[in-house]
Amino acid sequence: MIPAVVNERGKVHLVDLPEVPGAGWPDPVEVELLAATVQPKDRQVARGQVPVPLPEFFVAGTQAVVRRADDGSRWYCRGPIGVRGGPQAGAYAARFLADASWLVPLPEELDVLRAAAGAAALSDALHALRDLARLAAGETVLVLGSSTGVGAAAVSAALAAGHPVIAATRDPAMVPARDGLTVLGYDDLPAQIRAVTGGAGADVVVDTVGGAYTARGLHSGRRGGRQVLLGYQAGTELGLLARDFLATGMWLVGMNADAVPWDRQRELTEEALRLLAAGAHVPDPIVTRPLAEGPDALLGPAPRGRTLLLGPAYDHQGD
Ligand SMILES: NC(=O)c1ccc[n+]([C@@H]2O[C@H](COP(=O)([O-])OP(=O)(O)OC[C@H]3O[C@@H](n4cnc5c(N)ncnc54)[C@H](OP(=O)(O)O)[C@@H]3O)[C@@H](O)[C@H]2O)c1
Repeated sequence: MIPAVVNERGKVHLVDLPEVPGAGWPDPVEVELLAATVQPKDRQVARGQVPVPLPEFFVAGTQAVVRRADDGSRWYCRGPIGVRGGPQAGAYAARFLADASWLVPLPEELDVLRAAAGAAALSDALHALRDLARLAAGETVLVLGSSTGVGAAAVSAALAAGHPVIAATRDPAMVPARDGLTVLGYDDLPAQIRAVTGGAGADVVVDTVGGAYTARGLHSGRRGGRQVLLGYQAGTELGLLARDFLATGMWLVGMNADAVPWDRQRELTEEALRLLAAGAHVPDPIVTRPLAEGPDALLGPAPRGRTLLLGPAYDHQGD
């Protein structure tokens, strides 16, 4: 029997499946779960907050570090979860069938927990900066919501590429000082940004929080600057006014990482793993729980940092 966290008609619970889940992929590979990430998206799906029709029964979970059952090698596994199709098969099972195309090699020097905690946020941050904002050499990046998750990863990715970075956060004490980094609270953010950019404003804004913060980002950018909106931690209603665009001349672009072509997702994940292995990004504080506590981890209050679900194959001594 295979323990798995499943979403059955919108109800999330732990079951023992009679067979290894995930049949039907073109090139199936049996893998054992080492550590799966509990992403904000996984929580939103479990809570019924994702406005797409979902299958009646699916294994939850989108990304994990796994071990191949045939040769014991370790891989980062990016599942096929897409917003339009809804989740099809997930990673929250002690063993599951992954398609070989989802497996990205784990650098030798990178440990399981850091990979599981950091790779998704970093690859999303790279997509926002490179593919959507088209960040150019020397440009200044402002990150809204910068102490954890994609925001913290965007800070690291931009610093690693040599850009001046401004991290905006509700609690500046939570963002460690680094060369090239300015940390600011949100009070009168546009004026603070003008002050630290010599009056120019930020070239690129990574907006992980939405709500009323989005307008503050637009007013902190330069004319022709780009703001990527990827999350709505502070609310789905942005309350934007015409002057937020007319006065600022900013471009606002939305992000949907699930819609990124698979080849590109793979490249972004490979680069994220390289940055993690090189120590360019320290992932969020890690909270580990056994797979069996998956339903509670999805439905209960989210702790600060990244929750990881450890599979029975995870070796507590070796990592
Ligand atoms: N569109 C996409 O393709 C895509 C991809 C990945 C993630 N997302 C979404 O992006 C969002 C962020 O994901 P994440 O993994 O970065 O999450 P996270 O680590 O939980 O949160 C990121 C930051 O949001 C800020 N924040 C949280 N609640 C807030 C509030 N009420 N008001 C103001 N700021 C708040 C915090 O910044 P401070 O504490 O520093 O202020 C936190 O560090 C989620 O909604 C997620 O679903 C979307």
